[in-house]
Amino acid sequence: MVESSMCNHKLEDKVTIITGGASGIGEATARLFADHGVRMIIIADIQDELGQHVAISIGAHRCNYMHCDVTQEDQVKALVESTVKNYGQLDIMFSNAGIIGSPTTHQTVLDLDITAFDRMFAVNVRGMAACVKHAARATVEGGVRGSIVCTASVAANHGGKKCTDYFMSKHAVLGLVRSASVQLGEYGIRVNCISPYVLASPATCLVNGVGVEEVERLYEGNMLLNGVTLRAKHAADGVLFLASSESELITGHDLVVDGGFQLTRSVISSKHWPKQEFE
Ligand SMILES: NC(=O)c1ccc[n+]([C@@H]2O[C@H](COP(=O)([O-])OP(=O)(O)OC[C@H]3O[C@@H](n4cnc5c(N)ncnc54)[C@H](O)[C@@H]3O)[C@@H](O)[C@H]2O)c1
Repeated sequence: MVESSMCNHKLEDKVTIITGGASGIGEATARLFADHGVRMIIIADIQDELGQHVAISIGAHRCNYMHCDVTQEDQVKALVESTVKNYGQLDIMFSNAGIIGSPTTHQTVLDLDITAFDRMFAVNVRGMAACVKHAARATVEGGVRGSIVCTASVAANHGGKKCTDYFMSKHAVLGLVRSASVQLGEYGIRVNCISPYVLASPATCLVNGVGVEEVERLYEGNMLLNGVTLRAKHAADGVLFLASSESELITGHDLVVDGGFQLTRSVISSKHWPKQEFE
């Protein structure tokens, strides 16, 4: 009894920002953080109505919404500054806002739309860097041993048949997390990322041009683990771990949440080996 109430307070008194918190992985994380005793969550997004709705449904005592386009550094700076001003400090930044692409632009190398590429990098790379920069400054200035978690993707570790700009952008997130963790360790600030495989969210439904069930059906067969469907909640569980003191000694880490998908890419089939040894 005591144990279960303790483990529901992994983020007690923490002040946290979640970018892209109006929907998908960000929304699921905001709801999970709220269940773990967080003092305040600021959902930062460009979908104002949706973001406000999520904040209200979590409760004004625990969650507020603020408009912030992460491509605009001044808005990111204002988001962090107002959080510190209103709530005294910033403990956790979940830099999650991102775009995946559109169903019409495949973004193969031979057919790369550079305007779409720039937009992708403005959100997924420049936006992510601005969030890490301003969160790091606020935590250093406040003397807080903060935790910064970014959303990368399994795309950070692989090439893709299309969506070249998306794959590139997620490789960049990994570079950001590794560099920031090296530089911020001396302040006691941890920087990690979460790398989910494909799960159904408005972004993946849009890019695949299908609904939630179809996205789940399309991708779940690619995981090693049978009988499970990867959902936003699984990514949120990983974020909670990286944000909380349960991962106190973990920094510069890419936590892959993929039901073993990446392993399927590295398994050498037995047909490549001498028959008698493996069959
Ligand atoms: N869904 C997946 O399969 C999957 C897998 C791996 C990684 N990711 C990553 O997870 C993150 C969240 O994606 P999701 O699947 O939950 O999608 P989503 O579309 O449900 O959520 C993304 C949120 O980011 C917000 N956003 C977009 N541009 C923004 C901007 N300029 N400023 C502020 N907010 C902005 C959107 O309004 C939205 O609320 C992204 O970084 C995505 O690349 C998703």
